Amino acid sequence: MSEINLSHTKWMKRALFLASLGNNTTSPNPRVGSVILDKNGNLISEGFHYKAGMPHAEAMAFSNLKKDAKGGSMYVNLEPCCHQGKTPPCVDKVISSGIRKVYISIQDPDKRVSGKSIKLLKEAGIQVHLGLCEKESLELNKAFIHRNITQKSFGVLKWAMSIDGRIGLKNGKSKWITNEESRSLVHSFRAEFDAIIIGGNTLRKDNPLLTTRGLKYPEPLRVVFTKSLDLPLKSNLWDCSKAKTIVIYDSSTANESYLTRIPKCVEVEKVSSDNPELISKILAKRGCNKVLWECGPRLATAAMQSNCVQEIITFIAPKILGGETSMNPFGDFEFAEMNEIIKLSDLRVSLIGNDICIKSSFEN
Ligand SMILES: NC(=O)c1ccc[n+]([C@@H]2O[C@H](COP(=O)([O-])OP(=O)(O)OC[C@H]3O[C@@H](n4cnc5c(N)ncnc54)[C@H](OP(=O)(O)O)[C@@H]3O)[C@@H](O)[C@H]2O)c1
Ligand SMILES: [Zn+2]
Repeated sequence: MSEINLSHTKWMKRALFLASLGNNTTSPNPRVGSVILDKNGNLISEGFHYKAGMPHAEAMAFSNLKKDAKGGSMYVNLEPCCHQGKTPPCVDKVISSGIRKVYISIQDPDKRVSGKSIKLLKEAGIQVHLGLCEKESLELNKAFIHRNITQKSFGVLKWAMSIDGRIGLKNGKSKWITNEESRSLVHSFRAEFDAIIIGGNTLRKDNPLLTTRGLKYPEPLRVVFTKSLDLPLKSNLWDCSKAKTIVIYDSSTANESYLTRIPKCVEVEKVSSDNPELISKILAKRGCNKVLWECGPRLATAAMQSNCVQEIITFIAPKILGGETSMNPFGDFEFAEMNEIIKLSDLRVSLIGNDICIKSSFEN
């Protein structure tokens, strides 16, 4: 790579770093960072998007400008916007600034923008370079891109199990399989997500809190998916002072007289079947880019079968629970041949005390 290309990469990496400062806060918006250089290639400003309703990365960089940007260049990891949203279009600001070159990693998948801003910049006589650090940019905004393309939230399924692959005893007891360090790591992982989903049975059996324990404000939305609506009168999820909760129920099977058990502060929404895809679509519509499935085997299997899961986080504790009927992370996928089984790739393994944490994606 030439020295010039290296320096372009360096500035785009800086934009990506700035974008990552909004990692847990930008949803439903993308993570974007921007750098402005003057005509001599000196850094004169930078910015990032922190939260929906707050300035976009480019707007923040323009408001931080120390010098005239005329004849300079901009690095931004996502195509600037050209629509009037909660804030004015960034592309107009870029054009009126007199900037001559714009380096963009990837096009915005949002149909209101996609390619249109690049066209406007070119029509204004600005040189546009698309594709710098494309791989890193796609990775950084994979959940936002997934939601825009599929109209479903990017799903991550998490479970904790013993070394013999059990997630609980046959009587349902499972507290605790993993160590304290792993459990507090889960609280911090939750901060990356916009919503956390469980099934009605996990609510009844575990009465979880599903919060980050104050690491994120507001806390991720807590979602209960139920076919029966047979939920308890008392539950940690009914305390809305800590986090919002929504109960989504299948109206074709639920007993709606149970709705009286759910307090008024909890939102309730009905869907027409028990297909987890409906949950993923509802959450995407609410602006949830990334959601965490923390459910038990039955809902986890259904979520996998309906393509609601894109990545997996598994905690493995060096313990043996045994038992032919102890719980597994999944139910039956009805595979008949080994070439039908689900294969994982891109494994990232870490040791958490004596536990092992494996993050993985699906093999294409
Ligand atoms: N070790 C771990 O990581 C971990 C994590 C989560 C849970 N668990 C354990 O798992 C057990 C619960 O397992 P579970 O499989 O019953 O989990 P679940 O998370 O409660 O999911 C099953 C429930 O989800 C609802 N549901 C909605 N749509 C569904 C669909 N299409 N398919 C299946 N269920 C659907 C039903 O609720 P209704 O019955 O209300 O209709 C159903 O009973 C608990 O003992 C819990 O401790 C362990
Ligand atoms: Zn913008």
